[in-house]
Parts: sequence; C-alpha cells; structure tokens
Amino acid sequence: MAERSSELSGFYRKSAEDRRRAVLEFAGIEPEAEKPWLPPEGVDRGILERMIENVIGTFPLPLGVATNFRVNGKDYLVPMALEEPSVVAAASHAAKISREKGGFHAQSSPPVMIGQISLVDVPDPSGARLRILEAEPELLALANSKDPLLNKVGGGARALEVRLAPTPRGTIVIVQLHVDVRDAMGANAVNTMAEALAPELARLSGGRRNLRIISNLAVHRVARVWAIFPRTALEGEGTSGADVVEGVLDAWNFAAHDPFRCATHNKGIMNGISAVAIATGNDFRALEAGAHSYAAWKAGPGGVIAPLTTYEKNAEGDLVGTIEVPMAVGLIGGATAVHPTAKLNVRLLGVKSAQELAQVMASVGLAQNFAALRALANEGIQKGHMALHARNVAVMAGAQGAEVDELARRLAQEHAVRQDRAREVLADMRKTSPSKT
Ligand code: MEV
Repeated sequence: MAERSSELSGFYRKSAEDRRRAVLEFAGIEPEAEKPWLPPEGVDRGILERMIENVIGTFPLPLGVATNFRVNGKDYLVPMALEEPSVVAAASHAAKISREKGGFHAQSSPPVMIGQISLVDVPDPSGARLRILEAEPELLALANSKDPLLNKVGGGARALEVRLAPTPRGTIVIVQLHVDVRDAMGANAVNTMAEALAPELARLSGGRRNLRIISNLAVHRVARVWAIFPRTALEGEGTSGADVVEGVLDAWNFAAHDPFRCATHNKGIMNGISAVAIATGNDFRALEAGAHSYAAWKAGPGGVIAPLTTYEKNAEGDLVGTIEVPMAVGLIGGATAVHPTAKLNVRLLGVKSAQELAQVMASVGLAQNFAALRALANEGIQKGHMALHARNVAVMAGAQGAEVDELARRLAQEHAVRQDRAREVLADMRKTSPSKT
C-alpha cells in the first residue's frame, strides 16, 4: 500500500461530502461506513459547516433533561448534553431534595470579563503603571468606541488595573481591562478592545506589547448559589439523615484539605455545569479553565486548589450547601445564537439573560456535587453507575429488545458487569426462553 499522507491539499475548500470521501480513503474505511458522521435530520448542515473548519459531519451526544430545578422561585427543565451515565439523574434527584426548603437561591455579579494586554521591555515599569492609570478615562473611551452596540445595551469597558509581574525575562506590565459584556460570553468584545488599546499602551509604557487576550480566570463574573438539603430527606437504607449529613461534611472536609480529592470534587461540579454549557452552545473549555483556575486562586499562594462548594450544618441539623464559581456564559453571539440545537435548548430552559443562565448553571453544579458527595459517603457511586453501565454491556454482548434490561438486571444483581459474563448469561437466557430473542 502506498504511504499515506495527511497533507490533504485544498482540503478546507472541499465540500463536507468530498472531505468525508477523502478521509475515508485515507483511513482505508469503506465508503458506506460514513453514516454516523451524517448530520441528523432537522439540523441545518450549512450552519454546522460554517461553525468550524474542515467539517466532515457531526458528533451527536445524548441530550438529557434534568428535572425538579427551582432557582429563585422559578422552575426550570435543564438540558444537559454529555456522555456520562448517572449525571442527569443525580442532578434531578438533588434538585428534588432541595425543593422542600425552597430550591436554589442564586445571585450573580455583573457580567464583567477581564482583557489582558501584556507589555514587555518597559524601561520604568512602575512609572509606566502610573502613566497608564492616569490615562484611564481616554483609554476606556477608546475601548468603548470599538463596541457602540455593547454601550447601547448598558455594557462596556468599566475600569483598568495595572499589575507588575517581575520575571527572569524582565518585569511584565499587565494591563487588565474590565468589560461588562452583558449577555455575551464576551471573548470577541474583550479581545477587540484589548487589541485596540495595545498601541496606545505600548506608547505610554515605552515598551512593546506582547499579548492582547481575554482571561478565563473570570473573578469578576461569578455566580453564587445556596440551598438547603433537609436532613429528613437524606435517610438512606439503614443510614439516618443525620449520618448522611456528617458523611457529606466529612467528604467536603477531605476535599478542602487534599488537592487530589479536591480535583475530583470540582470535576463532579463541572460534570453538571459543562453539560449545560454544551447543551446551550457555550464555551465549556472557558468554563472549565475558569472554574479550576478560580479554585487554585481561592486556595491562595500557600495552597493548591480549593473546593468550589462549601457544606455546613445549620441549627436544624440540615445541610447547607453553597457554590461560588466564575460563569462566563452568553446567550448572544457564539454557537448559542446559531446552533439549532443550542437555540432550542435555550428556549426550553427559558432564561432571559446570561446572568439567569449563569445562576441556573451554578445551581446544577451545586446539585451535582451534593449528589456525588452523598452517594460517595454512603452506598458509593458504582451502584448507580453499574446499573447504567450494565445496559451498555448488555447491548455490546448482543442483547436485543427486552433482553437488554433483563440481562442488565441479572449482571447488576450478580455484581458481574463484564462482557464475558454478559455473553454467558445471554446465552443462558436464550436457552431458557428462546421466544424472547
Ligand atoms: C465522576 O464523574 C464525578 C465524581 O467522581 C465526583 C466526585 O468524586 O465528587 C463522582
């Protein structure tokens, strides 16, 4: 076989169909195998093909809906797109428990993002800092002249801060522009403003501009949520509600004192937040970067990473959970405004502003985390996971129709959710009741 080359000249100019043909040929895959790449009916191919480069198809993820959410007295059905079992069920269950005491109480800061302009080779960094601060009104006016529409809807550049970072390559003068981006995620508005300010900042500093880009550590754009999970609703098989409360408090304490645990604790929070981000066409990488860097920032110089949630026991012995997390999400611009599925999901959610979306998403994060800690401190998560995993194993072993649930049930009951055992049990089932196949 001739040596294959991944240098596909003019690939980006081809139609999606031609690109599929080319990549299938490259990989030696038969042309009929392309079906899973084809966009589902009802989704405009043209829109998807213009969203990124070199498009060959789509990658459908399951879209679930979390029920029971009540945030600030309003009920929501929350669309979640992800591949992991148990997450949607866990969020829905936690939201149900929270309803007894009013659901989630949410607030958020104004949607202020940070744009960074780094200046290097500055001869007098401290002097440059003050010259830049002195020029703040003119610099803000210049930034705002780049986005009249944002100003019209009540947003715009609000403030400047200048930090000095001494490094082995010299002191970096870091200018941070604070921009209220209203209902946008904000990257475009902020990057445009940062690029516009850079020449003037270089002139004022007497140095050279290096980067001009948004920061994902969105410390000025945070959502905060608290909820009560009543002790009486937490009783489990052979476990009192009071014990469950203590178990969750110990689990949180573990995360607060150990970075290895804390990484997983925060990952569970993002299981919920990123799934809603994906469903609504938001930039989940920006949210992940923001959340994890915020957790590190919160831990301070002496720490590594802090949990994004807290848990306490109130005077009634109920569990009070809180979350505080940066939430750079938008409703206008980006995929949210063009992706047909994202648009429908936003309609289903019924949020009217990016801040409302941020509050719902932070609530999902808290719900997810509470559900994970509760399960981990009690029965463990494998029980729930395994029930769903067993269905996948059953399908992979060749079970069809009603066989899937029956085989999954037997495997879970035996605590043997494995391919080899699945095939044996399936064969057995077919021997004893062949009519079902
Ligand atoms: C799995 O995706 C998420 C959990 O590991 C979160 C946690 O441990 O808190 C269950």
